[in-house]
Amino acid sequence: MTLTGKVALVTGAGVGIGRAIAKACAREGAKVLVADFNAETGAETVAEIEAGGGTAAFFKADVSNEQHVADMVEFCVNTLGGLDVACNSAAVSRGSGPIHQFEKDVFDHTLEMCLTNTWLCQKYELAHMLQNGGGSVVNISSNASLKGQPYNTAYAAAKAGVNTLTKSSAAEYGSKGIRINAVSPGVIRTPGVEKYFQEQPKIAEGLMRSAVMNRLGEPEEIAEAVVFLLSDKASFITGQILSVDGGQTVR
Ligand SMILES: NC(=O)c1ccc[n+]([C@@H]2O[C@H](COP(=O)([O-])OP(=O)(O)OC[C@H]3O[C@@H](n4cnc5c(N)ncnc54)[C@H](O)[C@@H]3O)[C@@H](O)[C@H]2O)c1
Repeated sequence: MTLTGKVALVTGAGVGIGRAIAKACAREGAKVLVADFNAETGAETVAEIEAGGGTAAFFKADVSNEQHVADMVEFCVNTLGGLDVACNSAAVSRGSGPIHQFEKDVFDHTLEMCLTNTWLCQKYELAHMLQNGGGSVVNISSNASLKGQPYNTAYAAAKAGVNTLTKSSAAEYGSKGIRINAVSPGVIRTPGVEKYFQEQPKIAEGLMRSAVMNRLGEPEEIAEAVVFLLSDKASFITGQILSVDGGQTVR
């Protein structure tokens, strides 16, 4: 067990990739704070962790709201006894389409829900980790950030921002004992992606076949990479963007 004795905070842990990460952290021995703005699915994640013999608590937060994020970190420290490792997975991508027809408020909202939220979470997580003498953070990016992605420009740009945030903050906090990496998923079978496929059937066709391994990834396959990067097994790895994508980026 690679996270024994640690407290892990996972945002967006109500479903999908975030839930798989929370469960993997618990399996590896961490006490887990499940954070999400959906209280119902968040409680389900906690119940699944407890059913597996783990320890978890839920905190309802919209991580694009600074006060919620401050309260979330305080709750984590007070309730679970600290904050050693964190994975910022929560994101919402709303709408896609050509730039000349795209609404600015949708662009702004995407940045807020994919990039600003990650920066906000880091702000409060890092403040605690500094006091604590170290820690490890993994941000969830997206392969959309690595190559151009037509009609999904707001999301792609926001996630490219997450990559640069990850590298810049790794450079800033490396000497203080805090490692910061990102995992960049390919196309993973989650409720968010299933909804997107229904809305954009033409784009879905191409995405489903985009990995050289010719299949979608599973949330648990992202979680394994995250747990590794959070753990001391990755003790000399920081500032990296690790694609977990069935080879989508080498196609
Ligand atoms: N699924 C994929 O194929 C894929 C690919 C690349 C990147 N990603 C990234 O992986 C992460 C998880 O994706 P997913 O497909 O599991 O998403 P999802 O939409 O299935 O789940 C996202 C979860 O985050 C929560 N959430 C979103 N915004 C929040 C906020 N501001 N505050 C609190 N909770 C919030 C939602 O309630 C939900 O529980 C995201 O960062 C996403 O961009 C996913």
